[in-house]
Amino acid sequence: MTKPILVANWKNRPDSLGKANEILKGFSKKSDVYKKLNTFIAPPLAYFESVSKKTKTFSKLASQDISIGKKTTTGAVEVDILQGFGVRLSIIGHSDRRALGETNEEVTEKIKVALKAGITPLVCVGENERDREGEFLEFIRHQIRLSLGGIKKKENATKLVVAYEPVWAIDKGAKYAMAPEDLAQMIIFIRKVLTDIYDRKTADKIPILYGGSVEKSGVEGLVRTGINGFLVGQASLDPENFGKIAQALLKK
Ligand code: 13P
Repeated sequence: MTKPILVANWKNRPDSLGKANEILKGFSKKSDVYKKLNTFIAPPLAYFESVSKKTKTFSKLASQDISIGKKTTTGAVEVDILQGFGVRLSIIGHSDRRALGETNEEVTEKIKVALKAGITPLVCVGENERDREGEFLEFIRHQIRLSLGGIKKKENATKLVVAYEPVWAIDKGAKYAMAPEDLAQMIIFIRKVLTDIYDRKTADKIPILYGGSVEKSGVEGLVRTGINGFLVGQASLDPENFGKIAQALLKK
């Protein structure tokens, strides 16, 4: 497996370019740490230029989505535009997008667009809630099988990254991040699902990230689960918090 992966998903924040530049200044102080990881920043599109210029020595640019629409679709952001900015990874199927109606079939199409363009697809999966009967496991299995269903070639599968982001743990604060022992089991489960779709060797090559209230507090426990990296929301807008997460990941 490659270096641990750390992805900052800024979502729709911060609310000004000035604030974005302040955050980037903070990031550059820890550039040595970020360089040792596979670090990606997914800012709002409006900040792409600034982020790519200011972070190119220690991280790569990522997009929060990728378009499958035609070039004439209003509001869509075409893969050519993303490539023009040097985007190297696209978050696909984030629960925010799925909540807006994105289907597993669309996720598959987006993965194909990314693969064709040489952009790493970071495919998000995660249950909305947990139940004692374990039905959420079936939900995850189903979501992975359908999202990756059209990605048949093993050679393509090894270019994927999967992010497990349980919706109930997103945007809640460190106390609500997943318990490390539950995450450790989930990683085994997801790898088994991937093994069933492809084979063991292929599944072992697909990094699995965790996202959902990852913060400096509690991150050491999450690192010990065998996770290959993190997809970080809120804490990635705070250079001190994000830097500590990066340092913890380096000790993996
Ligand atoms: P938080 O880290 O703010 O919970 O967000 C997680 C997430 O959705 C990253 O994609």
